[in-house]
Amino acid sequence: MSEGLSIVSYLGATILFILCLGGLSDQETARRGNLYGIIGMTIAVLATVFGPRVGTAGLPWIIGAMVVGGAIGLYAARVVQMTQMPELVALMHSLVGLAACLVGFASYVDTSTPLTGAAKAIHEIEIYVGILIGAVTFSGSLIAFGKLSAKIGGKPVLLPGRHLLNLAGLLIVIYFGREFLHAMTVAQGMTALIVMTVISLAFGVHMVMAIGGADMPVVVSMLNSYSGWAAAATGFMLGNDLLIVTGALVGSSGAILSYIMCNAMNRNFISVIAGGFGSDGSAPAKPAGGGSSEPAGEVTPVSAQETAELLREAKNVIIVPGYGMAVAQAQHAVCEITSLLREKGVNVRFGIHPVAGRMPGHMNVLLAEAKVPYDIVFEMDELNEDFPDTDVAMVIGANDIVNPAAQEDPTSPIAGMPVLEVWKAKTSIVMKRSMASGYAGVDNPLFYKENNRMLFGDAKKMLDEVLGSLAKAAA
Ligand code: TAP
Repeated sequence: MSEGLSIVSYLGATILFILCLGGLSDQETARRGNLYGIIGMTIAVLATVFGPRVGTAGLPWIIGAMVVGGAIGLYAARVVQMTQMPELVALMHSLVGLAACLVGFASYVDTSTPLTGAAKAIHEIEIYVGILIGAVTFSGSLIAFGKLSAKIGGKPVLLPGRHLLNLAGLLIVIYFGREFLHAMTVAQGMTALIVMTVISLAFGVHMVMAIGGADMPVVVSMLNSYSGWAAAATGFMLGNDLLIVTGALVGSSGAILSYIMCNAMNRNFISVIAGGFGSDGSAPAKPAGGGSSEPAGEVTPVSAQETAELLREAKNVIIVPGYGMAVAQAQHAVCEITSLLREKGVNVRFGIHPVAGRMPGHMNVLLAEAKVPYDIVFEMDELNEDFPDTDVAMVIGANDIVNPAAQEDPTSPIAGMPVLEVWKAKTSIVMKRSMASGYAGVDNPLFYKENNRMLFGDAKKMLDEVLGSLAKAAA
């Protein structure tokens, strides 16, 4: 492929990536956005592999690697459950970081195009910064993978003097950066690079270990952003414009998403990164009833038949799905119940919290898969004020996102996080298997409210029973 055709292809791919991001910003256009992304990536890969910078000698290696990588990707896409997607994404971010590190080291030892003066200094800065970002992304994403897959506990690990440790690490990295740029031999430069890489890896681990359960959404989107910058750094090292543009698109959209997540959680970005919010993901963070939230007490269980009756008699229903709906794969049953109720004239809407589930847009994806109409799916802010006029708020496998302690208990680890105010409905029904806490590990006073009912059991099984009762009554 000629140089000119390669540039035009890169330009076309860039435009398609931008259209892809634009499409993904809305549910109605997301499919089209995905298609643009697939076409753009196909063009980008073909233009690179058959471009002027890859000789025919390298082709068998590249094609071999693509076959192996493609086979692994295909296998993962087929076997990974929807609930495992967040940890898979974290693992993929770590690979981008690892690639940036490997490309950095390879660029440094590659002396086939000798550089001098300013060009040499710029190339070395690209290598140093690229490996730094890559190493932080790699180790941070691996820890995020461990936390999201519950292989590592959600409790923040706060080392004594952790801010000082981070500062010392930064100063050492700056010192060795200077040594690297002034190195007389490759061996000297390599020592500086290795020291910096070890510190960056340790920083990535330290940063994510210090973050508590409830703040993981911000970390996931932040690592997404880092992986973009790592890809952009790789683009600089390889002199590949498309990789620079694509990396910058991912980096900046990840940064915007982190900002949105912080707003959604009412968190200050810097304090989340400094760590310490949230608590252990397994047990209540403090004895129930602490602070100003209601004391733990009696809960009122309800049966599937009674739930169906409450729904049938309601005029306004708001359904709040959470992580448990994803675990139970209950979205299709939810959709069928919604259709039945709407046929009977009940106004059914869905309330989606920005951090419901385990990844941004998790609930929207599931509801779209089950073909719930988009126009009855609302963001938290759009219908939070409507709960007082709602007859039944049905919570399906959600916990932290409907926890009144966020508003009522200033000592709660989730204090200040906006939540869906389901307890303001005439009746709220919480569907879950036990009294266990959610991801943030915080007890939920909602369960003990007088107007709340607990429908204990697997969400799919319970919804099937509710559906059965509704269908029987309708027949
Ligand atoms: P959670 O607070 O984690 O609550 C989910 C609830 O679902 C659990 O309490 C669990 O209770 C129940 N559940 C699990 N399996 C179930 C099943 N088969 N049937 C019925 N219920 C089931 O979820 P949420 O309310 O969606 O809140 C999300 C949390 O995850 C927030 O703390 C958020 O910060 C965090 N987080 C979010 C993200 C993103 S980006 N969205 C990323 C990482 C972390 P039982 O065990 O009693 O059934």
